Amino acid sequence: MASLALPTPQLSRYRPATVSRLVEVRALEKTFQHMGKELQVLRGIDLDLDDGEIVAVVGQSGAGKSTFLHIIGTLDLPTSGTVKISGQDVNKLSSAGLADLRNRNIGFVFQFHHLLPEFDALENVIMPGLIAGKSRKELEPRGRKLLEEVGLAARATHRPGELSGGEQQRVALARALLLQPKLILADEPTGNLDSGTSAAIHDLFFDINQRHGTTVVIVTHNLELARSMPRVVTLKDGRVHADERRESGRKAASPPAETLVRADGDALKPAPAAP
Ligand SMILES: Nc1ncnc2c1ncn2[C@@H]1O[C@H](COP(=O)(O)OP(=O)(O)OP(=O)(O)O)[C@@H](O)[C@H]1O
Ligand SMILES: [Mg+2]
Repeated sequence: MASLALPTPQLSRYRPATVSRLVEVRALEKTFQHMGKELQVLRGIDLDLDDGEIVAVVGQSGAGKSTFLHIIGTLDLPTSGTVKISGQDVNKLSSAGLADLRNRNIGFVFQFHHLLPEFDALENVIMPGLIAGKSRKELEPRGRKLLEEVGLAARATHRPGELSGGEQQRVALARALLLQPKLILADEPTGNLDSGTSAAIHDLFFDINQRHGTTVVIVTHNLELARSMPRVVTLKDGRVHADERRESGRKAASPPAETLVRADGDALKPAPAAP
């Protein structure tokens, strides 16, 4: 894959004073065993995600993007290294503790997390709440509001088979938001969609990020959409090949530009916007 021609990162040494660290990944390695052989997919990843960031993850097919997303989503464990979510080392949690952390903090928009075909859009959106033991009566108003936010108020009674691909992805996003996660992980959410619909779904992720301050990580093969993101992480050969931040273009919910500090704590003026 051609490397992204992004401006030189201007803020990589700085972080905002008021924003807290949501995800901290250190020396992450993942090796799969397959037919008696070892396949080392992730070879030492260090990455931090702050509250309110919106980040694209790109890289060639097989680079380990989905594996990485599964591990930060606590759906899979690393072979070595640590993943902390809100300061909590996920390796040190029991499976019940992990499920609880996941349910409270993380929403998934993955292609294999299909909508349930026999339920309508509203029922699919409130399903995580029903599974968590909440009542339909209590959940429905929020489910309707979320469908409205993703532009599907008029499709609440449609089953997945009666929705377009883009509409299904929007229902999946509304479902991921139901329990108000701090982090949304999306694995190629626009994979099968035309470019106009893909751009609209990406806009929606920005909208959600702005409205709720939700941290969003989107794996995408669409370089044009990736370039519109404030931060782009490129994985290559199991490592972070590039971690680029853009001052120009669209902004995430954070950081507040006036309160940038250097890693050593000195207050700084924001770097000038890239031309
Ligand atoms: N459970 C597994 N057992 C063995 N190998 C695996 C397993 N899961 C993934 N792999 C291998 O790990 C590598 C990384 O897979 P991954 O799904 O993370 O790639 P990706 O970057 O998401 O690719 P794509 O862009 O095609 O989705 C691939 O070569 C894949 O074949
Ligand atoms: Mg993948």
